[in-house]
Amino acid sequence: MFHKASANPRKMSTSLPVLTAYEKAHLADRQPLPDRYVGLADQEMDRRIAAAKAALGRRAVILGHHYQRDEVIKFADHTGDSYKLAQQVSRHPDAEFIVFCGVHFMAESADVLSADHQQVILPDLAAGCSMSDMVAPDQLAMCWADLGQMGFANDASPVVPVTYINSAAAIKAFCGERGGVVCTSSNAKATLTWAWARGERVLFLPDQHLGRNAAYALGVPLDRMVVWDPDEVWGGLDPDRLARARIVLWKGHCSVHTRFSARQIESVRRQHPGVRVIVHPEVPWEVVQAADDAGSTEYIIRQVKNSAIGSVWAVGTEIHLVSRLANDVHPDRTVLSLDQFGCLCSTMFRVSPNHLLWVLEGLLEGAVHNRIAVPDEQKSWTRVALDRMLSIS
Ligand code: 13P
Ligand code: SF4
Repeated sequence: MFHKASANPRKMSTSLPVLTAYEKAHLADRQPLPDRYVGLADQEMDRRIAAAKAALGRRAVILGHHYQRDEVIKFADHTGDSYKLAQQVSRHPDAEFIVFCGVHFMAESADVLSADHQQVILPDLAAGCSMSDMVAPDQLAMCWADLGQMGFANDASPVVPVTYINSAAAIKAFCGERGGVVCTSSNAKATLTWAWARGERVLFLPDQHLGRNAAYALGVPLDRMVVWDPDEVWGGLDPDRLARARIVLWKGHCSVHTRFSARQIESVRRQHPGVRVIVHPEVPWEVVQAADDAGSTEYIIRQVKNSAIGSVWAVGTEIHLVSRLANDVHPDRTVLSLDQFGCLCSTMFRVSPNHLLWVLEGLLEGAVHNRIAVPDEQKSWTRVALDRMLSIS
């Protein structure tokens, strides 16, 4: 019989966003923006970024995630969601440098997917992701050991670990080594289908909402899903509950996307009859149910741009994407933010044009600032997990 311990040592490893050892190491290496790059006029910054980019030519490729600011993304050679940007890496073998305007886990994935002669740069190493920090390698190792004690994650009752790309390389490597895979918001359903063909149960990390939304869309009822709380003994579950589960959802979330609510959707529908509501699948399940459509950032942009002239959209994702999309489709279509106050990803925002200018001019001077280099011992299994992902979709 399982009893919850009264004093739980796991509480010691907090579920508040914690930095992985790897991220701590890199933040320690973080080079602050030199004073001479602070307070530059916009025009000067634009002119110098364009000049540095032109001087570097094919030596550098700039990748930009859709949540980046306008002042940065306008210099990207390629924009996209996490999946599309990961695909871009191998398409630029000439580039010595991949300047990733996005967040830490994206740059890590790019480093793992890049060739040996290439270096990946994240203009500000403090551009992390709070969701990715919600699973630490020691918590995952403990979860896996607990699953074993509970009679799962063995040959008789396999568990396939699937990690959202929004996780540290160490987590991806753990999954790769155990027959698991990485997924993104654009291929979560295909990846879960792949995983369930290999095992009865999936452990989905670290975003419970993406896991729940994707599994539900594939027909898994909510009562066959359980949430693993890393602060609790045995995740706060018992073996009987686990035995019924098809998917074990890690208790992680995105603090930006969990701001969206079904009430906001009711309100926008009242104010704009006929509005179409589209959200990112990191929002809670009831929000996806209340919306008309859900998908990755690239999918959201495509759906709105391809919609009928005159369409009105309410979009539930990060505010930079929403504002840019509103400008791009204006005046033929109307785009509103589902959250009237807008939802900002403050870590994406850390990549400023000043940082971009600094790293580009640094390359011209022979200096590589804020390089992301995944340790060799994590690289091979991370690569396995990412390659599996790229082969599925
Ligand atoms: P996409 O892969 O859909 O761009 O999502 C990345 C992300 O971090 C969303 O919060
Ligand atoms: Fe991470 Fe959320 Fe920001 Fe995406 S929006 S990078 S999941 S904190």
